[in-house]
This record gives sequence, structure tokens and C-alpha cells, in this order.
Amino acid sequence: MIRLGVLISGSGTNLQAIIDATESGALDAEVVLVVSSKPNAYGLVRAHEAGIPTMALTRDAYVDPTTADVLIAQELKAAGAQYVVMAGYMRKVGHPLLEAFKDRVINIHPALLPSFAGAHGIGDAFDAGVKLTGVTVHFANEEYDTGPIIAQSAVEVAEDDDLQSLEARIHATEHVLLPQTLQLIAEGRVSIDASRKVCITYE
Ligand code: GRF
Repeated sequence: MIRLGVLISGSGTNLQAIIDATESGALDAEVVLVVSSKPNAYGLVRAHEAGIPTMALTRDAYVDPTTADVLIAQELKAAGAQYVVMAGYMRKVGHPLLEAFKDRVINIHPALLPSFAGAHGIGDAFDAGVKLTGVTVHFANEEYDTGPIIAQSAVEVAEDDDLQSLEARIHATEHVLLPQTLQLIAEGRVSIDASRKVCITYE
């Protein structure tokens, strides 16, 4: 059993996928705290419904991002979190938080990194006309969307896709890949080697 802190900013469908997987037994984890960078994020409602403690920060709290990160790290530690999952968290996670949870901050990105990094991964891939895009789960580091890749899942772009239909399949893929990847971590199968690549051991 691993204890997770989850960072959100929006609707929290990935948070919901994590909660559902813990409840069904597919993910051997407990979400101990949900931190939102927005007080009105719907993900907070999901957390309340699941009985998970929450912390919401206002825009003012981020005027000094380092102070915000120190506070978030303190609260996550106090809640007993061992890993931190960025599940649609639209703020940068900086040094204090990355140092407090070294190689234990996980991000989900809606494209196949290193392609289409940034805040618009799905739309940028769609606009580029790629035939294949997907989802990446990776460890976060101090540069956006560049940390060691843990898992990826491909999503084909169909001839008749529009942005909305592609988004729907990407999100559905995220909701499978993220809990699965966290389960690999919970089973102790995920490590980072000397060249900063992720190794996954299977029996
Ligand atoms: C996801 O597509 C995630 O990959 C991206 O932001 C979205 C968050 O969605 N970084 P939700 O809040 O989990 O519904």
C-alpha cells in the first residue's frame, strides 16, 4: 500500500480514476490529501465525496511559487504522502516540492513525450496532423514534461476525428494508464537507473 498526495487544478477525472482504482482494489494505494491550485476545481468535490482531505490554494498563494511549494510539501508530508501525483495540475512544481519528494513526483501528460510537451498536448498533436499520439506518465523534474518516462500508451488519430473525439479517447486512455502505472510503483517494480531511465521489473 502506498500513500498518495494528488495535485489538481480542474475537473479531476484522473483523480477519480485513481480513487475508483483504489476502491476496486486494482490500485493498492490510499489518497491521503488532494491539493488544488484552484478553490473551485470540481476535483475537490470528488475528493470530498470520497472522504479525502483537501487543501485549496488561491491565486494569491502562488505570488511566490517557492512559498507555495514549501507549504504544499509540508502539508503532503504531514498527511503521510509518499508519492505525489500531478493529475491535471496546471502549476509548475518547483524545487522545494521536488526535493521533498525526490523522484517521487509523477505527472500525466496527454501526448507521447517528448513530442507535444506543454499545456496543449492534445490540440498541438491534432493540429500537427500526427496519425499517432497518446499518453505519457513520467517522473517530474524541474523542467516541464522532460522527466524520466515510466509508461506510455498510444492513441491513433482516426480520419474522422475532430479535436473533441480525440480528447475523449486520450482522456479514457489516461484513466487506464495512470492507475496501472501507479500500481507498478506500489508493487515496487519501478526504479530509475544511473542514466536516469526508468526500469520496470516484471516477474
Ligand atoms: C489531463 O488531460 C492531463 O493529462 C492534463 O490535464 C488534464 C486533467 O484532467 N495535464 P482532469 O482534471 O484529470 O480531468
